Amino acid sequence: MATVVGFISEKGGVGKTTACYHVAIGLQWYHDKRVLVVDTDYQRGGITCRFLPALLEDFRSGQMSGTTLFDKFQQLYSNSPFSPDIDILGTEEGPNLLPADPRLSQVTVEKMPASNNIRENNRRLLRHLSLLRDVLEPLASEYDYILIDSHPEISDLLRSVVYACDYCVSPVKLDLQSTIGVPSAQQAINEVNDDMEMIVRAVGPVPGYIQTRFAGAIGMMAREWGGILISSMRPQYRRLAASGGIFQNYVTEGDGLRQAAARRSPIYNIDGPNAERQKSQFRAITEEFLVRCP
Ligand SMILES: Nc1ncnc2c1ncn2[C@@H]1O[C@H](COP(=O)(O)OP(=O)(O)O)[C@@H](O)[C@H]1O
Ligand SMILES: [Mg+2]
Repeated sequence: MATVVGFISEKGGVGKTTACYHVAIGLQWYHDKRVLVVDTDYQRGGITCRFLPALLEDFRSGQMSGTTLFDKFQQLYSNSPFSPDIDILGTEEGPNLLPADPRLSQVTVEKMPASNNIRENNRRLLRHLSLLRDVLEPLASEYDYILIDSHPEISDLLRSVVYACDYCVSPVKLDLQSTIGVPSAQQAINEVNDDMEMIVRAVGPVPGYIQTRFAGAIGMMAREWGGILISSMRPQYRRLAASGGIFQNYVTEGDGLRQAAARRSPIYNIDGPNAERQKSQFRAITEEFLVRCP
């Protein structure tokens, strides 16, 4: 059964997509894991286009072909019976991909057909919250890991991502402005867990449901001086360590990843001293990921 892990932060540009992409490939290449990547970033579809550049055109035009996650939400809104069929694509790098759909921006629980029965309303809220989990359920036996990349906004879609996850991690730039993305991610997890307590009280136990756990922040774009974190980043690191945890391993800021992004290739395929360093940092993060998100 796959372990489902979300990469979430309310902040953009902190390295969610970069972390998700490299951990996905690291798990597949170096640990022989079967990996599915789910892209819920409806605005940029960054990881979709990194794996399958040919989809960039479709994404920009708003016309994704096949059955996407959006079609599944649409089924809910039109009160049609739920069917879990969805199009999963293969990639050259190995992980499979459930691509982003720009129409996911239209996902909101307010589109659920209304009812004036409180218990029925709770069931409908649960159906919305659990939609992604329900879509992934039949796929879970085919993978060891399902990693979900997300859009930087706490929305009804993100709540459905959080619900679908066994664990969430929160990539972070270790500067004062970006570290706020981590507590707000933890808060989103707590809110979904708390809401589920209420829903379970109203509608009864939900088979197979377990709370989502926070597995730690991941330092991206860290800076070192003399082999240790620069002094302005150390307090942020310590603060995150004290409040819910941060991966011991981090990735330093540098050119290797920029070249890798420009060539649409993982850092593991890039040569040069900086790339070597970032490569071994991502290998270490992937190992730690296996321990924190078993
Ligand atoms: N350690 C790093 N060093 C240099 N550039 C990085 C590093 N990590 C990420 N980047 C770059 O920063 C930008 C934002 O990263 P991205 O993963 O897209 O963030 P997010 O998904 O959180 O918006 C990208 O252009 C990415 O290539
Ligand atoms: Mg992104």
